[in-house]
Amino acid sequence: MTEMSKTLEGKVALVTGAARGLGAEIVRRMVAAGAQVTAADKRVDDGTAAAAEAGAQFIELDVTDAEQWAAVVNFATTGGGGRLDILVNNAAITRVVPILDCDPADFRKVIDTNLVGTFLGIQAAAPAMASSGGGSIVNLSSPSAFEGTVGMPAYSTSKWGIRGLTRTAALELADLGIRVNAVVPGALRTAMTRRPGWEDEDYERHYGATVPLRRMAELGEVADLVVWLASDQASYCTGGDYAADGGLGAGSPAPVSD
Ligand SMILES: NC(=O)c1ccc[n+]([C@@H]2O[C@H](COP(=O)([O-])OP(=O)(O)OC[C@H]3O[C@@H](n4cnc5c(N)ncnc54)[C@H](O)[C@@H]3O)[C@@H](O)[C@H]2O)c1
Repeated sequence: MTEMSKTLEGKVALVTGAARGLGAEIVRRMVAAGAQVTAADKRVDDGTAAAAEAGAQFIELDVTDAEQWAAVVNFATTGGGGRLDILVNNAAITRVVPILDCDPADFRKVIDTNLVGTFLGIQAAAPAMASSGGGSIVNLSSPSAFEGTVGMPAYSTSKWGIRGLTRTAALELADLGIRVNAVVPGALRTAMTRRPGWEDEDYERHYGATVPLRRMAELGEVADLVVWLASDQASYCTGGDYAADGGLGAGSPAPVSD
């Protein structure tokens, strides 16, 4: 990691889905940028270890549970000396199964975690942010929020929903001084994108080739964008989608010549 400037000095942050993958990297980068961070996840052992290594505090959270959200916001705010400045709604799951084979219970579970979980987070955190004089909420979106995604109907639907929720929250919370934005990552090498039987090199072959920059994203390349949106450097940004996707949003890359 390159030396980070302390753009989040004095800020108190809460990051969900922080036990591994992108969420754990966001926690590391926010701590490096000077924030006091609460890392939350339903995976307690991994989450506790990742938070301790990063210099953050950990608390168990199932994002689908409104009562747990209230306790977690209280924990983060108390630890932060009464403030809450930043919420990152990063926790998500997927199911890789086409519509005609998808169990409705699985569809509901993905929507409940990704979309309702994000809604509950905004609802729980916004009052604490408002009493801190405002804040920044960053919701994790996906290229799947801009097109259909074969084999991931519930995931794609949840991320389209997060786009609507992000814009609506930006409008409703602007007068409270709370900015709400979405980050659109390209494909990352995490547990979410791993498929049965894959070796490490299968990631790049499957995902990297379809991206204009011809490679997958590094976790830090996405996490830094989240840190920026959370900081006062992004003070005039709200209601937007911000991509770190290697050009995927621009369209298909040029064909590879022989
Ligand atoms: N991996 C990618 O290629 C990719 C691409 C675009 C967007 N994203 C988004 O980035 C975010 C992070 O993805 P990742 O690849 O790091 O995934 P990951 O599976 O590695 O990590 C997700 C984390 O969320 C946690 N989580 C799941 N359900 C939860 C719940 N109910 N309550 C609390 N925590 C819960 C998991 O325990 C896990 O630690 C997600 O929002 C994902 O949709 C990922």
